[in-house]
Amino acid sequence: QDSTETKVIDQIHAFQTGITQPIEWRIAQLNRLIDLLNEQEDAIVDALQQDLRKPKFETLMTEVIVAKNEATYAINNVHAWSKPTYPSKTFPQLMDTVYIQKQPLGVVLLIGAWNYPIQLLFNQLVAVIVSGNCGIIKPSELSPVTADLIAKLIPQYLDKECFKVYLGGIPETTLLLQQKFDKIIYTGSSMVGKIIMKAAAEHLTPVLLELGGKSPVYVHKDSNLDLGITVAKRVAWGKYMNLGQTCTAPDYVLCHGHVLEEFLNKLKSTIKEMYGEDPQKSPDLARIVNARNFQRIEKLILGMSKEKLVVGGDMNEKTRYIAPTVYKDVHIGDPIMDSEIFGPILPVLAVNGEDEAIEIINGSDKPLAFYIFAKSDKVVQKLLSNTSSGGATVNDVLMHAAAYNLPFGGVGNSGMGAYHGKYSFDALTHERSISYRGQNLESLVAARYPPYTEKNLSMIRWMTTDKRGRMCSIL
Ligand SMILES: *[C@@H]1O[C@H](CO)[C@@H](O)[C@H](O)[C@H]1NC(C)=O
Ligand SMILES: *[C@@H]1O[C@H](CO)[C@@H](O)[C@H](O)[C@H]1NC(C)=O
Ligand SMILES: *[C@@H]1O[C@H](CO)[C@@H](O)[C@H](O)[C@H]1NC(C)=O
Repeated sequence: QDSTETKVIDQIHAFQTGITQPIEWRIAQLNRLIDLLNEQEDAIVDALQQDLRKPKFETLMTEVIVAKNEATYAINNVHAWSKPTYPSKTFPQLMDTVYIQKQPLGVVLLIGAWNYPIQLLFNQLVAVIVSGNCGIIKPSELSPVTADLIAKLIPQYLDKECFKVYLGGIPETTLLLQQKFDKIIYTGSSMVGKIIMKAAAEHLTPVLLELGGKSPVYVHKDSNLDLGITVAKRVAWGKYMNLGQTCTAPDYVLCHGHVLEEFLNKLKSTIKEMYGEDPQKSPDLARIVNARNFQRIEKLILGMSKEKLVVGGDMNEKTRYIAPTVYKDVHIGDPIMDSEIFGPILPVLAVNGEDEAIEIINGSDKPLAFYIFAKSDKVVQKLLSNTSSGGATVNDVLMHAAAYNLPFGGVGNSGMGAYHGKYSFDALTHERSISYRGQNLESLVAARYPPYTEKNLSMIRWMTTDKRGRMCSIL
């Protein structure tokens, strides 16, 4: 416990020296992060291969390149983001300088996730650096090879005083959580999110929680499954990437009855096209992270009736392989609809239109993502305005979450707070209000002091009452 405390106190000291304040220092650290990603690409690919059997293609496309882009975007914008902002002034402020100072919070605890152990942690590290904070980095112990690599590389590339990696599992994380931080970022399950938030409450530490949820897909009857966009291909890609262990992956599909058969057939053929006759032999499928998760998903498959199986269902406990699997005729209330699947099983439910889809989606916790496939913009708008989710992509999957110009975050059960791009800077920055006036012009405020008089009250009333924006036009 002593060493945990010491580490956190070291970080506070490092932050208090003001080392993170200069923008040039932040840019230099971000460049070092990019150097790390460039120079250690092979080691990263290898670590993720060992932890998740993640294909190199996926490691580069969904982890390394994403994190590099995030860092580059931060470098290009940190000057603009960190400048004070000046709101338009109200009438009583006309003689003042009124602005918002951008101040780092202090020491941020990053608790990493195992499914995208580089992308998530490094994107969050970019947030910590660009906003001028120090960080304690706790990689997930469930992707141990990557965690060890991160612990080895971070001190080689980043400022040792300001950024420290802390390894360990639940006991170590519990000790860390007893310390006081200025913000905690956690990516993972809603259940652990509650534990983190409880611990943070002891110190009134704000939290940014990226949680999951059952992210639905709706396929409308007007979707052209044959030409134009290949709905099944897009859904399968988002589902089976990283073998379904993606927090924004499509969890289940609500498919319009008119296109159901065709959609299921297309899913079947697209899975074959992507992963071959025997997906177990495909080099392009990751593996389930550990035995516990394997058994959890195995139970879901064993709980489904064989008649409902469209494709897949094969498992291999030794290699933690689970085939890309699709079930049809699934109903709300089936065990597979109880919680986030986080594996390569896609249940497909038939619905008779967007109204039934809205009812189903609204009837459950707000998910992290929502995917709509429809040609009719009217249907799309109806679905968007009658449901809520962290984000949504229309006629594709994952794209809203991959963009650094959009805030990435959940709502309700899928989390709180958002990051990526400028939202990362804002998430770890205190917006300090500054009202700055000179030591003169006492006459302008003389009316506010006791003894109070009716005459002065009416003067104050006139001066301070909002004139519906008319006063702003003076500026
Ligand atoms: C959905 O939203 C639309 C606006 O786009 C509204 O007119 C309609 O009443 C809503 N429908 C339902 C079922 O809530
Ligand atoms: C669904 O929930 C949203 C808010 O999340 C609300 O605006 C909408 O009216 C609800 N619609 C239905 C049909 O329940
Ligand atoms: C009322 O306001 C005037 C300035 O507008 C100030 O000189 C005076 O002291 C205030 N108080 C009273 C009791 O008049």
